[in-house]
Amino acid sequence: MKIAVLPGDGIGTEIVAEAIKVLNVLDLTFEMETALVGGAAFDAHGHPLPDATLKLAMQSDAVLFGAVGDWKYDTLDRPLRPEQAILGLRKNMGLFANFRPAICYEQLVGASSLKPELISGLDILIIRELTGDIYFGQPRGRRVATDGHFPGSEEAFDTMRYSKPEIERIAHVAFQAARKRKASGSEGRVTSVDKANVLETFQFWKDVVSEVGKEYPDIALDHMYVDNAAMQLVKEPKRFDVVVTGNMFGDILSDEASMLTGSIGMLPSASLNSKNQGLYEPSHGSAPDIAGKGVANPLATILSAAMMLRFSLNQAAAADRIETAVKAVLAQGLRTPDIYSAGTTQVGTAQMGDAVVNALR
Ligand code: IPM
Ligand code: MG
Repeated sequence: MKIAVLPGDGIGTEIVAEAIKVLNVLDLTFEMETALVGGAAFDAHGHPLPDATLKLAMQSDAVLFGAVGDWKYDTLDRPLRPEQAILGLRKNMGLFANFRPAICYEQLVGASSLKPELISGLDILIIRELTGDIYFGQPRGRRVATDGHFPGSEEAFDTMRYSKPEIERIAHVAFQAARKRKASGSEGRVTSVDKANVLETFQFWKDVVSEVGKEYPDIALDHMYVDNAAMQLVKEPKRFDVVVTGNMFGDILSDEASMLTGSIGMLPSASLNSKNQGLYEPSHGSAPDIAGKGVANPLATILSAAMMLRFSLNQAAAADRIETAVKAVLAQGLRTPDIYSAGTTQVGTAQMGDAVVNALR
């Protein structure tokens, strides 16, 4: 089981260190190799995704990823910005299926900004297509005026596009996930989120998902416009089971859904290719404002490591153990600042990781 460890920038190094502590107390043997990525790689090698890092990732069974980005890189040319590292890994490894579960742990019901009854028992799965859409559309760029009136760029453009096979494969992933969840008590519903009322790309998306849906008569399919979905997610989040959508809408809706769980610091993610090779990262970013302070919540990364064990390394029992340990730690009342509420005990990043390790032991 070969794991490429890419901590990245900001709080990335702190939270990944805690996930590694947790992996190291399981009775399993991993081959782990660490490499620079994002701004850290740019500083050392002049590129956010050096060849050696990409090669290591591609040759591993799984990538454990922290986060990338810092405001200090905002003025770099786009190909050199830290975010290009994660986009390059997704594209080069073909990680088209992004799983972002939003599960509300009972102990954190009070940490959400929503009323407890709306989110208690919440367990939804957002599946975001990750290698297409406006993120990777061509052409993109800027047009410079030639009439002399505008010396700089006159307009900028990005192209939204999806091919039929791209939509089909993510739709199959969503229906299969819904089927699996149905077997353990979920409703068996896929909600496909689009903007078919305005965008041609998403009318096509809707048509292709409907077509694929005919192969899954046991799964209910409904379609929702993205603006309505954004509203329904906070109005009645438990109406959803599996949500499938494109890259851009999935980016936005998964951040929104994370707040249903109390904190974005709790939300893990998995990005898989067709060979079940995967990249595992917290859904949150590099949080430069709290980097180095030892206060970041490591649980999203620890839970991402659990997803890694389950999806790419075939170690479901170990994944269950980690998830049980996280629940135990929350039940003990330990909270990083992002999930703190009166009557609980505030801890830092390392203390939280240690607590999970102790619970595992
Ligand atoms: C995410 C992030 C990335 C994205 C950024 C860092 C490129 O927001 O994983 O959701 O937009 O996909
Ligand atoms: Mg995002």
